[in-house]
Amino acid sequence: MRLLAFILVTIVLSPLLVIGTAIYMFRVLAVLMPKGIDGTAYEPYTARLFMHDLGTRPDPVASRLAPHLTVTAAPVWSMFSAPFRWATRLTGYVPTLFTFPPARPLKVMSVMALRTEFFDRTLNDARTHVQQVVVLGAGWDTRAYDEHWSDLKFFEVDGPPTQQEKRAALADAGVDASHVTFVPVDFNETSWLNAITGAGFDPTLPTYVLWEGVSMYLDEAVVHDTLQAIAGFAPGSVIAFDYLPKELFTSKGLYGLVGKYIKFGIRIFYRTQFKLLFPGASNSRGEIESILARDRLELGEHELLIYEEKYPIYGFVLAAVR
Ligand SMILES: C[S@@+](CC[C@H](N)C(=O)[O-])C[C@H]1O[C@@H](n2cnc3c(N)ncnc32)[C@H](O)[C@@H]1O
Repeated sequence: MRLLAFILVTIVLSPLLVIGTAIYMFRVLAVLMPKGIDGTAYEPYTARLFMHDLGTRPDPVASRLAPHLTVTAAPVWSMFSAPFRWATRLTGYVPTLFTFPPARPLKVMSVMALRTEFFDRTLNDARTHVQQVVVLGAGWDTRAYDEHWSDLKFFEVDGPPTQQEKRAALADAGVDASHVTFVPVDFNETSWLNAITGAGFDPTLPTYVLWEGVSMYLDEAVVHDTLQAIAGFAPGSVIAFDYLPKELFTSKGLYGLVGKYIKFGIRIFYRTQFKLLFPGASNSRGEIESILARDRLELGEHELLIYEEKYPIYGFVLAAVR
């Protein structure tokens, strides 16, 4: 009943969503792309914004940034979120996509909440023994500015145009970033390790590396270079990352077709490519263990979201320096 009421309210307000989406798409294609700013960063960011707006996971800094980022600036975010905000307010129903923490047993629609929970939890667990955090491909991640973690020293690494956009938005929103060192690097061109070391990173201190939503965009060699670089960090250091299973694009049938459709969409809309390395079968833990062992890392946690016990959707890894 509540779901039905939620759908009705959303339908009534859907013109806002349609116009908001059209402006959103226009801004990605006509404004971001020519400047070389990464558009994919808006996908997880808007998911976290929705969680904030629907009251399931507070992220006040993400909310403060929205008016100052090219794509979510007025009127986009309010048009985009109003139908869901009102529908939730009036009916009390929260869609699975934005339910946080994700409801168990897990559903495919919980993927963004599961992803957010994995990185929140592993960062929280690490805070007792790490002294610094490196966020590789930081996008619009706001964990560095969250009061839970802001006592740690952060290094945010991202492509130069994307990072420039974030720094300007943080300044415009009046967010304190004094504990954050920004390191602009294109992973395909420059060693991020040399760059952060030059910016004051100390590899002899235990470190948490947050690598969320990035591994699937990088060449295999860059992924291995990254893992090998972290293997040289101080004992106690960990890396948390997520991946899209390669079966998603190699399988036959509807599952493989969905994968190819997503890959095509990403290429056309964001002008970037998925390059998948990690396997997703339910027995893939051993394979991931040996990939990491080659790069001298030890697999700790491995979690997989699998649809109907058959179709791997998304994977999560926590690995430690040996
Ligand atoms: C999907 S976004 C994820 C952002 C953020 N980690 C999050 O989960 O909200 C991917 C991020 O990786 C960065 N990225 C992708 N390829 C990169 C490269 N070659 N060099 C530097 N950054 C890159 C993008 O700029 C973007 O910020």
